[in-house]
Amino acid sequence: MKDSRAILQAAKIIQHGGIVAFPTETVYGLGADAFNPLAVARIFEVKRRPYFDPLIVHVANPADVKNLVKEIPSNAKKLTERFWPGPLTVVLFKEENIPDIVTAGLPTVAIRMPSHPMALSLIKESRCPIAAPSANPFGYLSPTTAEHVREQLGDQVDLILDGGPCPVGVESTIVSFLEERPRLLRPGGVSLEEIESVIGKLKISPIEEVRPSAPGMLPKHYAPRTPIVLDWNEKNLDIYKGKKIGLLAFQETKNHLKFHSVEVLSKKGDIREAAANLFAAIRRMDALKLDLIVAETIPEIGLGRAIMDRLRRASSGGLSSEELIKQSEI
Ligand code: TXA
Ligand code: MG
Repeated sequence: MKDSRAILQAAKIIQHGGIVAFPTETVYGLGADAFNPLAVARIFEVKRRPYFDPLIVHVANPADVKNLVKEIPSNAKKLTERFWPGPLTVVLFKEENIPDIVTAGLPTVAIRMPSHPMALSLIKESRCPIAAPSANPFGYLSPTTAEHVREQLGDQVDLILDGGPCPVGVESTIVSFLEERPRLLRPGGVSLEEIESVIGKLKISPIEEVRPSAPGMLPKHYAPRTPIVLDWNEKNLDIYKGKKIGLLAFQETKNHLKFHSVEVLSKKGDIREAAANLFAAIRRMDALKLDLIVAETIPEIGLGRAIMDRLRRASSGGLSSEELIKQSEI
């Protein structure tokens, strides 16, 4: 189907209370009319997402935020002016009109204006804000291609719009404006440094503090089936003899022979390319039925912060390789 026709059909589905998977620049989302509680409930069912985990409301125009929130603090305005459309989500005090199911009963709402042309057209044609989480079963990696969505949720959604691979590859950065000083709730596609260059220092939440309102911040989330280990070292690899180990590498390395398979996220070591490849690479490795995936770590600067955040959450609760082996006797 031609893109424009598919988008019109998708918009019709949204208007009639259906759910549609669609590309954004970060990851694929699973969307419904944000003002239709029954449609939004289906998203929770399909994803097996707990109802205490609120959704992001996607808009096609910054002016649309006004109807959704009580007030837009000046720092929030500065950030949205600078980074919208794009991978930034702001959490603000919500207006009454947003159904409780969208915000999990919280007095706040997370809002973002994506930059992907298909996402923007879909929202415009639907003529409503679109509530959408990432289009994956709860707790698994976010999809960065239409194929990923098809594999996991294919028969349960009304339509999948295919916009190719997501160029950013990690989810949006979430900043809340509920206190005097803005707070980073989730590192993502816009780096902390970029944000602080516009509005100054942010508070950075320890995981415990945001747990009730942002399960995406749970220590173990975005997890593949194969254990991922970050805390390993070359010398210890002998203890894995006879096991199928995969290496998730950031750039070309020399040790490929030791591993059953290797995914190089960016041959030239480009962090943007690495982020864009991250989830698809982990999915490919997860499909190989390896005993273990060991991942390289990178400095937590720029997009490196979001990448390391997702890797930690995808990894086995922070266990070292030895601890993991003891525990599971792989
Ligand atoms: O890049 C993205 O943000 C993608 C695309 C599809 O837009 N969406 C996404 O949605 O990652 P989701 O549902 O997978 O993650 C949204 C996160 C969750 O951790 C949720 O708990 C948090 O945002 N969140 C939503 N509303 C919130 C609120 N009012 N207060 C605090 N956290 C909130
Ligand atoms: Mg998600």
